[in-house]
Amino acid sequence: MWAKAHSGCRGPMAKKQVTESESGDGGWTLKRLPPMDEKEFLHWQELIEQRTGITVSRERLTHLQTSIGLRMREVGCESYEAYYRQIVGNPGGIAEWAILVDRITVQETRFFRDPDALELVSNFIRTLPQEMLARGTLEAWSVGCSTGEETYSLAIVIREALAQRDTRIFYGVTGTDISKAALNMARKGLYPERKLRTLDKAFIEHYFEYQEREGAYQILVDIRERTCFARVNVLNLGDAPMHGMSIIFCQNLLIYFRKWRRKEILDNLAERLVPGGLMVLGMGEMTGWNNPLLERLPSERCLAFVRRPA
Ligand SMILES: C[S@@+](CC[C@H](N)C(=O)[O-])C[C@H]1O[C@@H](n2cnc3c(N)ncnc32)[C@H](O)[C@@H]1O
Repeated sequence: MWAKAHSGCRGPMAKKQVTESESGDGGWTLKRLPPMDEKEFLHWQELIEQRTGITVSRERLTHLQTSIGLRMREVGCESYEAYYRQIVGNPGGIAEWAILVDRITVQETRFFRDPDALELVSNFIRTLPQEMLARGTLEAWSVGCSTGEETYSLAIVIREALAQRDTRIFYGVTGTDISKAALNMARKGLYPERKLRTLDKAFIEHYFEYQEREGAYQILVDIRERTCFARVNVLNLGDAPMHGMSIIFCQNLLIYFRKWRRKEILDNLAERLVPGGLMVLGMGEMTGWNNPLLERLPSERCLAFVRRPA
């Protein structure tokens, strides 16, 4: 840990003054930040892993430097050390961390990103045993949902699959993520046209409404009403109220975590499935993991498990 807190951060107001007084001459806000040295990298790497589980490899040093550096400029902070102190040794540090975490996490996602996995969910619902239907509700969880595309894709797949069953079962999909900013976007369900590029026109017309004012497409209210979004850090699953899940979908999240952590998280998720419930992971999410509660589904294209009967 760095030995002593010292300011080095000017705060947004100071930043404005500096910008004005130095404008036009390659002023402070436009100055290149110095490269992050080894000691600084190790401190940030440790903090990020401790708080998110993500291990930042040395190859991602430039990305880390850029993401942190951009935020440092916004808050008027000149050194990585001072900014670190602002986050860990400051009462306002939690709010600042919430903003930074959004910048350092990879949030890449898209609608129907893994068609094979969604097809598996659809088959699961279309062949759902009567005793599961008799529960009257079907709850799905998209863990690490980013800006909501995965959550809405799941909701659409579930809705269409249930429509093929003679049932009045209630369904809902919860999307959770560590990033507040991503969750805010997910809640709105508003997407620019480029986010819909992979979808065909008829599908867009069916499930989206063009919002003139925002110049973006919004997920149909019927689907939005079936979803909810909440901030959950998978390192603190003990605080998460999700239990009795019929489907847990977790993709492209744990790939950034150490193996022992992935195991711990997956073991915890397994306990949140109802007997007969389905867990679908990304193909690269975890190798060689099994849990006595679960049975692996035979598939070459999906990594999926079903919870054994109680
Ligand atoms: C690459 S996106 C994956 C989105 C989606 N699951 C998909 O496959 O398209 C990874 C998401 O995991 C979230 N994330 C990272 N660490 C997390 C943690 N400790 N708890 C919860 N979410 C986390 C990030 O904010 C990001 O939105």
